[in-house]
Amino acid sequence: MSEQIDTAIRWGSERIARCSESARLDAELLLAHCLDKPRSFLYARPEQSLSEASWQKYQKLVQERLKPTPIAYLLGAREFYSLEFSTTPAALVPRPETELLVELALQQIPRQQSFRICDLGTGSGIIAITLKTERPLADICATDIDPACLELARENARRHEVAINFIESDWYQQLPAGLEFDLIVSNPPYIAADHPFLALGDLPAEPDIALTPGTTGLEALQQIIGHAHEYLVEGGYLMLEHGYDQQALVADLLENFGFSEIRCENDYNQLPRTSIAKLVDNPNPRA
Ligand SMILES: C[S@@+](CC[C@H](N)C(=O)[O-])C[C@H]1O[C@@H](n2cnc3c(N)ncnc32)[C@H](O)[C@@H]1O
Repeated sequence: MSEQIDTAIRWGSERIARCSESARLDAELLLAHCLDKPRSFLYARPEQSLSEASWQKYQKLVQERLKPTPIAYLLGAREFYSLEFSTTPAALVPRPETELLVELALQQIPRQQSFRICDLGTGSGIIAITLKTERPLADICATDIDPACLELARENARRHEVAINFIESDWYQQLPAGLEFDLIVSNPPYIAADHPFLALGDLPAEPDIALTPGTTGLEALQQIIGHAHEYLVEGGYLMLEHGYDQQALVADLLENFGFSEIRCENDYNQLPRTSIAKLVDNPNPRA
């Protein structure tokens, strides 16, 4: 006799509980994916038998989850700011905290006029694509050092039918000369390379380059803040996601590099997560 939906979920949750705090949800998502049905279907038909093919596929996905492989990689998609994005192991899994950065950026971007934006370290493209979807008149450039991320971001841009100028670049280094922005946004890697957090949960399955920039965790933030004045117009804004314990260090850096009106906003967990600053005292203005 083949497995029923409810017993399959129980079987999967018991195993996934070894690596996930949301074992039942994970099991349901994987099973719904195998059946190509919404999760609600599982509740409507708990006694329905699975085909042998679905049961085999589900068992394989549960084994993958135990490695642990993040659910978003197994499903190939994740929702961010109410949009669905393709996800692959090439890029960081979109995080709900990053919606704060998008929310704050949208407060600065006018609806009725053009605005030049750069998203540094775009990963799967979630920030750039969401901003373009919400503010179609914005002119958006998005960079990443990793060509595999840019390929995924381009696929996501096609999926949402938005035009973004994607550039392979080590932060600003390969940006064409003469580019200027009204706003630079970034969710860079910011975890120190020896931080024990990197060994927890699903993090080992995500790309190192997306998580850690080096020994202090501040290397990418320093690069981005230190050279922002070369690309931002006077009065332009820089918005950065960072570690919950990096707020003061980021504020010092911003002040040292000519920014003012520096503020930090808390994420959904009430942790200081996103800093915003205005460039008022450009030490290196363009002629
Ligand atoms: C924390 S992930 C953020 C990805 C995406 N923006 C998001 O919020 O989900 C950081 C991204 O920065 C990219 N990155 C790391 N070092 C970089 C560098 N030197 N220059 C450009 N991008 C870099 C990584 O490839 C990764 O996609």
